Amino acid sequence: MCGIFGYIGPHQAAPLLLEGLRRLEYRGYDSTGIAVKNGTINVHKKVGKVQDLRTVLPSSIPGTLGIAHTRWATHGGVTDENAHPHESAEGKVVIVHNGIIENARMLRTSLSVQGVALSSETDSEALAHVIERELSVDNNPEEAVRRALRQARGTWGICALFKDHDTIVCARNGSPLIIGQGVDEMFISSDPHALTAHTQQVIYLEDGDLATLTATSVKLSTLKGGKSQTKSSILESEWGESELGEFPHFMLKEIYEQPDAIRHCISGRLDRAGGSGRLGGLKLNPSDLAKVPHVRLLGCGTSYNAAEIGQLLIEKLARIPAMAHISSEFRHNDPVINPSALHFAVTQSGETADTLSAIKEIQLKGGNVHGVVNVVGSSIARLCGQGVYIHSGPEQAVASTKAFSNMVAALSMFALQVGRSRNISKERGVELIHGLQQVPHLVEEYLANQGPIQEAVDLVKDAKSVLFLGRGISAPVAQEGALKLMEIAYIPCLAYPAGEMKHGPIALLEEGSPVIFVAPNDHVKAKTVSAIHECRARGAKIILIHEEGDEIAQEGDVCISVPPVHNLVSPLLTVVPLQLIAYHTALALGCDVDRPRNLAKSVTVE
Ligand code: F6R
Repeated sequence: MCGIFGYIGPHQAAPLLLEGLRRLEYRGYDSTGIAVKNGTINVHKKVGKVQDLRTVLPSSIPGTLGIAHTRWATHGGVTDENAHPHESAEGKVVIVHNGIIENARMLRTSLSVQGVALSSETDSEALAHVIERELSVDNNPEEAVRRALRQARGTWGICALFKDHDTIVCARNGSPLIIGQGVDEMFISSDPHALTAHTQQVIYLEDGDLATLTATSVKLSTLKGGKSQTKSSILESEWGESELGEFPHFMLKEIYEQPDAIRHCISGRLDRAGGSGRLGGLKLNPSDLAKVPHVRLLGCGTSYNAAEIGQLLIEKLARIPAMAHISSEFRHNDPVINPSALHFAVTQSGETADTLSAIKEIQLKGGNVHGVVNVVGSSIARLCGQGVYIHSGPEQAVASTKAFSNMVAALSMFALQVGRSRNISKERGVELIHGLQQVPHLVEEYLANQGPIQEAVDLVKDAKSVLFLGRGISAPVAQEGALKLMEIAYIPCLAYPAGEMKHGPIALLEEGSPVIFVAPNDHVKAKTVSAIHECRARGAKIILIHEEGDEIAQEGDVCISVPPVHNLVSPLLTVVPLQLIAYHTALALGCDVDRPRNLAKSVTVE
């Protein structure tokens, strides 16, 4: 989604801004732009990638102060005019903005009435003009931004440059901004990734913060004009450099990183002697857990799929009701919140606006939310203040892979912990721990011998649509496989619990239709076999993900086996071939695997 990078210091800004934008590229965007101050402010912007912007830049852009942006269109089409930065009418103010200004129409109308000609269709441009109007009152950049934002309603991460002042003023409300403090230089970014090469000393702005930067100082205040409580911190080493190395794409690299990522996630969090999980960050002791009436889990996309697996594990092991919810629906359905219940917000980026809103809804109604988050220090991690970091390390491909696995691993440990405090025996706990500890090695074993992925790709790559089916704990795995293939290969995919297939999706099947079944050797396998027969009887071609040595293999046209593992952690194995099918299909179709069209890595608008 939109990205911001800014610099003020002794060095030439343009190369630093372009490098900052390159590091934000993984988030997904459709246009880019930079503004550099050198007497006047020079703005360059263009539809396309950072590489496309480079083609229109002059050979040298002098200036040591600048801001830059990658845009993911919300208000107004993908055009050069709508790209950021946006200039004010008299060129005294230039801004970049992430988020949505909800009263933009009203602001734009009032500006038009005052004779200001707007040059884009965006909500953001209005802010540049309003700040310039406020600047004319007292020529004070900080106060001008403060007064302008008080007139705005919505969300923002905003940075403003001023023709007549050597300063950057930035503010946050709902869209992340992080200040990087260097020696005699300051950086500002919407993403910690872009800062790691420059400094570890950072300030995560909080909602309602406003910051005025010079090369040597940061002045923090609140939008209301009071003192901000926000403190400086050290960037986690997890946000260190992540380069492709020998891999052609980040997605493939991240698929291969899963064994180590899972090791990292479970290490030190399993109590073998007690047969339980040990998730200290939850700040919950066994007697708290024994009283929990129910659990709710919230997430979007891949994180929702992981939450569904968490729901099944919690019910199975702890025998308390659990329910996964799609975050974007949650708040609007006016949910009943029981303050004694446990709520989990599951998210890789920790910045997903829909999940943030769902958390706020729960907190407003007196509930507590625990994060299951990858990005350390992200908005959701800080808003929850308690939870589990999944420790996947940076995930840069837009399609999530290793974060899914680690969310499932983290939720399995929680299910075990709550299960042990209420229901299951130590022996059952130890069995699950053993299963979980085997997973990293078994994923490695599978990756070394992946089976006929190419045959599966040949069946799906030209298909009109692909049906994914699974039962029980494999139903969300099927959903995740469908999401992966759809988002990076642009093939319409449908995922259903296998038993539901005969109630509708069966109508889609014709001679040669590919159907992917996820069928580990568990208690629902026999039922899944019935669904396979029903599909085959209609001429469908079956791609079967199954456990090695299982006789179910005779049911498939293309059979991909994974090593056998404890039933409750089978998603950590069965998802891997689905990730590979999606990856290789996208490659075969010539798609941009790491940056699929229209998608963004973190979706910071509702
Ligand atoms: C799918 C994908 C998205 C995200 C979703 C939630 O591969 O990446 O569906 O899972 O946007 O994002 P987070 O986990 O950052 O809240």
